[in-house]
Amino acid sequence: MKTLVIGSGGREHALALALSRDPGVTEVHAAPGNPGIGQFATLHDVDPMNGPEVAALAQRIGADLVVVGPEAPLVAGVADALTAVGVACFGPSQAAAQLEGSKAFSKEVMAAAGVPTARAHTCSSSEEAAAALDEFGAPYVVKDDALAAGKGVVVTNDRDEALAHAAACGRVVIEEFLDGPEVSLFAVCDGERAYALQPAQDFKRIFDGGRGPNTGGMGSYTPLPWAQDDLAEQVLAAVVQPTLDEMARREMPYVGCLYVGLALTEAGPRVIEFNARFGDPDIQPVLAMLESPLGELLLAAAQGRLDEVAAPRFAQGAAVTVVLASAGYPESSSKGDVIVGVPDADLLPGIDVIHAGTAVTDAGDLVTAGGRVLAVRAVGADVVDARAQAYAAADLISFDGMQLRSDIAAEPLGVIEGASVLDG
Ligand code: AMP
Ligand code: GLY
Repeated sequence: MKTLVIGSGGREHALALALSRDPGVTEVHAAPGNPGIGQFATLHDVDPMNGPEVAALAQRIGADLVVVGPEAPLVAGVADALTAVGVACFGPSQAAAQLEGSKAFSKEVMAAAGVPTARAHTCSSSEEAAAALDEFGAPYVVKDDALAAGKGVVVTNDRDEALAHAAACGRVVIEEFLDGPEVSLFAVCDGERAYALQPAQDFKRIFDGGRGPNTGGMGSYTPLPWAQDDLAEQVLAAVVQPTLDEMARREMPYVGCLYVGLALTEAGPRVIEFNARFGDPDIQPVLAMLESPLGELLLAAAQGRLDEVAAPRFAQGAAVTVVLASAGYPESSSKGDVIVGVPDADLLPGIDVIHAGTAVTDAGDLVTAGGRVLAVRAVGADVVDARAQAYAAADLISFDGMQLRSDIAAEPLGVIEGASVLDG
């Protein structure tokens, strides 16, 4: 099977790497990819947002499967462009990607499907916003209705700050605060059916102890030894299947990864948000533990025949990912800082250094080129072991201004990042 991965971040590196390790995959291509992916795959200088160009590339290389990594190309309709020329695409259509692209749409679908989530109101004026804030009370949760690269959500006890965010965004979703540990559950969907991958947890704040501003994610681990064994099945039954049924009813069948961001509240799992893609870095440790072939699974999902493949299998043990970010992240990022130590870290057994924001200069130096620069992923006997290995490998890598959290996957493992949102 020839595969093409669209995107250039850590998620795409981890996906491409897992595909390259699948014996059923003969070729891995990426557009545009990154220097890490370029070590084992063929890179193509094609704009991931341009559907016709992506489709033409897929046809030119004879791709059997295209995996679209990030949400922006999905929301822009790149999956539709691939489907139009008969290329199998793992990733939802433009219509179905609204589950991530519009918070108001996803709330509407959840309500119609009876999915447990925070009570919410969509507000377009400051009067509506003020009324919704007062109805739910503090802590206040205000979300920009449009895609905001993870920066559209404000959780605060300060009513004025909540109102100001609502005014700055225009249309917002204001909702009830969900109290409980956050979990990422990835469902591989074929339009009708889904398989869940092993749950993971993502550490979203920039600083130790869940302090400072939200980021795209500073680290992650799987499995969650403290979570209920049947969490994935519960979420498939209560959230994923009803959502797939509702999307099919609306004639926008959902094909791709449905990323369910959950809060495990005292009343049970509640959906915080849907995303139309795998989460990064949350998916990285999950892919490290996946024992069954990724290519076959994603192709079957893309072709609407998940019933023909077995449920994904996961290895014993655990995996931990620690993100290395550049100076200034998440407000800004620093480009061009020379990175040393990556080859040494990558050579350690059980370690993969995943590239997220790197570049190679004309002189051949590996340098920073984004906010999240690298992720060090380790596989170990258990979370404690994998964590120790990830930090030992991260110790070998350095660049000016490098930032990393020291408490990724630390005890207690049920640590509630969601509850520390108010620190920032
Ligand atoms: P989102 O972009 O919707 O994932 O929100 C970003 C982060 O804000 C989440 O990961 C949570 O930590 C927090 N958050 C969002 N919605 C809620 C909610 N209803 N209750 C508590 N925390 C929330
Ligand atoms: N790690 C969170 C996300 O990918 O949205």
